[in-house]
Amino acid sequence: MTAAIIDGKAISNLLRKEIAREVEEFRAETGITPGLAVILVGDDPASQTYVRNKERSTVKVGMYSEVHRLPAETSQQDLLNLVNELNNDPKIHGILVQLPLPRHIDENTVIEAIAPGKDVDGFHAVNAGRLLIGQESFLPCTPYGIMELLKHEQVELKGKHAVVVGRSNIVGKPVALLLLREHATVTICHSRTADLGAMTRQADVLVVAVGKPNFITGDMIKPGAVVIDVGINRVDDQLVGDVEFASAKEVAGKITPVPGGVGPMTITMLLKNTLLAAKRC
Ligand code: GUN
Repeated sequence: MTAAIIDGKAISNLLRKEIAREVEEFRAETGITPGLAVILVGDDPASQTYVRNKERSTVKVGMYSEVHRLPAETSQQDLLNLVNELNNDPKIHGILVQLPLPRHIDENTVIEAIAPGKDVDGFHAVNAGRLLIGQESFLPCTPYGIMELLKHEQVELKGKHAVVVGRSNIVGKPVALLLLREHATVTICHSRTADLGAMTRQADVLVVAVGKPNFITGDMIKPGAVVIDVGINRVDDQLVGDVEFASAKEVAGKITPVPGGVGPMTITMLLKNTLLAAKRC
């Protein structure tokens, strides 16, 4: 069997057109342009690329974009002061602090300083807690994007076994909760899981977010499974996922490619969250 490719770029483009239409409609009704502020501290090249893409995409759907590029030696207090200014800035509806931050800055302290109503990354403890107990919250963008891909592909989740490999606060834990919310039976695996292959081979839906190139191979996948590869790893100047695509596509029923799978969805959901933040304010 050769898997069908889940085209995240095409799905993302469809959603962004819809977001742009809603932004225009919202502006016509209220006079408000949704605004996103992104803070980048330091000069990590990957982060610079991500931030540039976020800026471009924000403007393209008709939103107001503000990027604050700060030097690596910026103090935690100066960063907190900027977050506080943006919390009180009526032009800004969403705030994103690009991670990772330099080592002298405590990420949690910074995330907790963002007003929960402007936390379009969904990383604040208030939003994470609301997700856990099933209240309305901002969903973290990558897990939200994964759920939109599954919805678009009409993947049945009720009663299915979803296996998530990776337990990060950004992807693994929240996507497990979202799959649970859709009535999947969910298993979370991680670096200490004994016999990982025995677990992943049970998955009707397999989500992999570990940041290790080609970590999951075709022999670890149940025939016909839906495979969502969250990894973006640079190997010999090429981007590869956490799933070994060549062997996996011979076994899976559907699979996301890298690049062009989950990646484009993350920014799309950030735009959706920013629009939602503007509507809620
Ligand atoms: N760094 C890598 N991914 C992300 C993300 O989704 N949000 C933020 N703020 N930083 C990141």
